[in-house]
Amino acid sequence: MSVSVLSPTRLLGSASGLLQVASLLALVLLLLKAAQLYLHRQWLLKAVREFPSPPSHWLFGHKQEFQKDQELQQFQKWVEKFPCACPRWLWGSSVSFMVYDPDYMKVVLGRSVASRSLSLPNSSIARSFLSDPKHHGCYRLLAPWIVIFLIPSPLPPPTPFCGPGYGLLLLNGQTWFQHRRMLTPAFHYDILKPYVGLMADSVRVMLDKWEELISQDSHLEIFEHISLMTLDTIMKCAFSQQSSIQMDRKSQFQSYIKAIEVLKNLYYSRVRNFFYQNDIIYSLTPDGLWNKRACQLAHQHTALNCAWEPLFWYRPSDQTEKAHLQDEEDLERVRRKRKLDFLDILLFARMKNGSSLSDKDLRAEVDTFMFGGHDTTASGISWILYALASHPEHQQRCRKEIQSLLGDGASITWDQLDQMPYTTMCIKEALRLYPPAPIVSRELSKPITFPDGRSLPRGILVSLNIYALHHNPKVWPNPEVFDPSRFAPGSDSHSHAFLPFSGGSRNCIGQNFAMKELKVAVALTLLRFELAADPLRVPIPISKIVLTSKNGIHLLLRKLL
Ligand code: HEM
Repeated sequence: MSVSVLSPTRLLGSASGLLQVASLLALVLLLLKAAQLYLHRQWLLKAVREFPSPPSHWLFGHKQEFQKDQELQQFQKWVEKFPCACPRWLWGSSVSFMVYDPDYMKVVLGRSVASRSLSLPNSSIARSFLSDPKHHGCYRLLAPWIVIFLIPSPLPPPTPFCGPGYGLLLLNGQTWFQHRRMLTPAFHYDILKPYVGLMADSVRVMLDKWEELISQDSHLEIFEHISLMTLDTIMKCAFSQQSSIQMDRKSQFQSYIKAIEVLKNLYYSRVRNFFYQNDIIYSLTPDGLWNKRACQLAHQHTALNCAWEPLFWYRPSDQTEKAHLQDEEDLERVRRKRKLDFLDILLFARMKNGSSLSDKDLRAEVDTFMFGGHDTTASGISWILYALASHPEHQQRCRKEIQSLLGDGASITWDQLDQMPYTTMCIKEALRLYPPAPIVSRELSKPITFPDGRSLPRGILVSLNIYALHHNPKVWPNPEVFDPSRFAPGSDSHSHAFLPFSGGSRNCIGQNFAMKELKVAVALTLLRFELAADPLRVPIPISKIVLTSKNGIHLLLRKLL
């Protein structure tokens, strides 16, 4: 080797040459990316041209319009100005098409989009059930909560969510259809009926705690208590947890609730940040690291506390048990032996028809039900109690109805829950004003034409804004007024005007369970306490996947004699 090759000048020269080439390459890539974003923006502008919206910045979209934490309030202003729907620019090349009209909702939620070529079991039925898929950009950010076992690295999950391990909420297409069919029996009336007692037990534990707490101070922030209570309920009903987790001294369940809280906050800031859309960049930021840690915590909880004991009990790798379970009669014997829970249904489903759920699928469904089954109901119950606390006359009327039905509330049955019409009207009106799942999203997999003739092409992100629909003055006159008579028997409203549980084939699978839980919680709370809103701490609704309050939900409680 000649000395001149290694000379510092030569080395520096070649290093700077490499640097120049690299910079040039980076510049070309940057320009290509910019051109791609520009062309995509032009395409989007054309796609939504029939739908007026407030002026937006070419780079920051409608960021200026939406002051931090005031999005829901801002939507209400848009609803009045722009009928039916309106594009919201997130940033230069990303638009979320907001829909808040019942006829528009009906078209999106009701349409079937499966192509003829799709091979499905019972294909014609299945095809009519397949709706537009969940929007990948939004729902993929939820995936690590549900599929951490599959994706330990920050690499993006495969699209769309059709493979194993995603859980019902995220899944699309054929796999979603199969899972939905398998899981539907878990919400059969016969399965849900005995849950009422378990729900009441969890509520009573919480109310006992409240009694103790208000002996010192009548003021209480209720959301966290209620979250723990609904987690307790879902663990008992879905996973046959024996003791009440509300009494847990090690507070590992509080850490699960905290982890979910952190995840919701991080999700909220991530969807709004252009730079956070890339998974690799995000995983290197402090938020990304927090997100990873919180996901791990949430998964540790499900792995440790919910499912695995019964799961191992039934595992097909346990050959003896498998052999028994494959036999229909033995299956019945086991079925009769103990009260069926959600996990049993999952496991039976996989024994029964040969097309079993893999362990990854099971874990994903367990995580889906843990989250979907406690946070939404916690939001629902908290806001209903707040609505009743703010309207003492309705609260008192509900209490009277409940007292005449349940006496002191020592026992409560499934059938009684269908005999409280006024309380049900109040619950529905509170769900209208405060829908626990305020926005759900779809990605159009084929062009759509709305009843007024306007249309959108394939590929657009459609946000079904349930909150804005419920506050739309054309649908609900004086939308901000709490008026339970809107839900009086015989009152006439559009089939898609009230959608707390969404609609169509991808509606909430847990809605009957949820309604029962809401009723049990409201009935037992009103029998025990008089509720008043705290005038100094008025909650500010904010959408963080579920509807929560920026400053908590604070009530003043007085124990009834
Ligand atoms: C007040 C309580 C609840 C509300 C307001 C609610 C609302 C909703 C909504 C709006 C959706 C549609 C989501 C979307 O399109 O992305 C949904 C789906 C779902 N919910 Fe609920 N939910 C509640 C309680 C529950 C409970 C208690 C469970 C389980 C025990 C549950 C499990 C699910 C699942 C698994 C899905 C996905 C269904 C599918 O895509 O096939 N939910 N829920």
